[in-house]
Amino acid sequence: MNHINRRLFLAGAAILPAACGKLGAVPVAPTAAGPVPVNPLIKQRADAQIFRHDDGYYYMTGSVPEYDRLVLRRSKTIAGLSTATEVVLWRHEKTGPMSGFLWAPELHMVDGKWIVYFAAGPSGGGEDVFRIRSYAVVCDGPDPMTGKWSVLGELQTPWDSFNLDTTIFTHKGTRYMVWAQREPGIETNSNLYIAKLESALKLGSKTVRIAVPTLDWEIRGYKVAEAPAVLHRNGRLFMTYSASATDARYCLGLLTADENADLLDAKSWVKSPQPVFVTNRATSVYGPGHNSFTVDEKGRDILVYHGRDYETIQGDPLLNPDRHTRVQRLYYTADGTPDFGVPVGNGPLPERFIAAADPKRLMAHDGMRLVAGNPALPQTQFRQSPGRAGTESIMLSPILMPDHYLVAAKDGSISLEKDSKSADFALRSQFVRFEEKASDTLRFVAISAPGKAIGTVGDQLRLVPSRDATAYWRAD
Ligand code: AHR
Repeated sequence: MNHINRRLFLAGAAILPAACGKLGAVPVAPTAAGPVPVNPLIKQRADAQIFRHDDGYYYMTGSVPEYDRLVLRRSKTIAGLSTATEVVLWRHEKTGPMSGFLWAPELHMVDGKWIVYFAAGPSGGGEDVFRIRSYAVVCDGPDPMTGKWSVLGELQTPWDSFNLDTTIFTHKGTRYMVWAQREPGIETNSNLYIAKLESALKLGSKTVRIAVPTLDWEIRGYKVAEAPAVLHRNGRLFMTYSASATDARYCLGLLTADENADLLDAKSWVKSPQPVFVTNRATSVYGPGHNSFTVDEKGRDILVYHGRDYETIQGDPLLNPDRHTRVQRLYYTADGTPDFGVPVGNGPLPERFIAAADPKRLMAHDGMRLVAGNPALPQTQFRQSPGRAGTESIMLSPILMPDHYLVAAKDGSISLEKDSKSADFALRSQFVRFEEKASDTLRFVAISAPGKAIGTVGDQLRLVPSRDATAYWRAD
């Protein structure tokens, strides 16, 4: 309220009943499916795995900055993971091959038991702390949060060499393990391998090398292909992996295989020539990577990854604690390929708004121009924040221009403006979001223009009468 004087506030608040009455809809607090997650979802948890188990809980594990323990948290909602209790399942040993770094745990149910896979190394004392190998611990009961965990053993791979980031998936009834490993004779830090998995720590087939970092964006700082994650959608298997050094150059690559292909044939896995998810300075997320996949409470695909919110790192990136867990919606292009867009940045998850009158068009911006169209995904993602004219008011900001807001002018035009801290800005940047469940539509009514809402004239966003067909949008 300190931004706008009392007169303006009363004027703004005074029109709300009229606006509500006119629209016949009661303002409903925006809900995607449950509470809207806010990034960073979990601070200082890297290499995050989040999945929704059939018990209805989301489980989350990841690397801690000290790399000295395996942790787990669970929640009925993704947003709830931010504040969920975190339990320690197992701590590194006092001596021996698992007394140093513990990296990138993943929780899986294997043959009826909870297993956590992780990479570990010795703690020094003459031993190479980067003698990293893959291991598993196993839970003695049905509840991974309360059970007793003990060492199951070490993963046997074809070479006694640096290996990490194991993940498993099942496809057409066959269980596979994918992991990163350094292979003797290949001058890289790590490549990606796949094999059938016969039991928790026993490979059940030949090991097949499916990716070697060779492209310029894979070998920046270190030659790395690690952290595989698999998603089966639209007749294909999409395997993301992380490449380059773990600083701002870290990024996601993508391998794609047809769902009917022989997954143990290296030729089945086609590498995308460009990275699919990289640092974005506009949204201030650096080094996005080491991802996993889950679905939100509505069953919509969610990308889980870590990223820092600053670029310059003091010292060794591996010892920098600020790789935070982040989540965002995963969309698809018309041919069913995942569209990773850009890391959306800190704050509540953004949304897209599809024109109800013309689903091929979305609320978007092209630089400073606000349009209805179908440009690249990041230009269609808008973040809603609390407004300043009463509890129902909200503000909208494009993720690529987080310091700009939609502002309605007296002539009905809508522009993107920075917060001038003026009373005029404080009024014209305020909207009320009216959701209508029956039609699954919503409208953004301008507090500064009673009876007017965000709609379109031609390809331009403009204020239109709040019952105009173009004033209806669908959140996605
Ligand atoms: O975060 C520790 C290790 O660093 C992870 O296992 C790997 O994916 C990353 O390079």
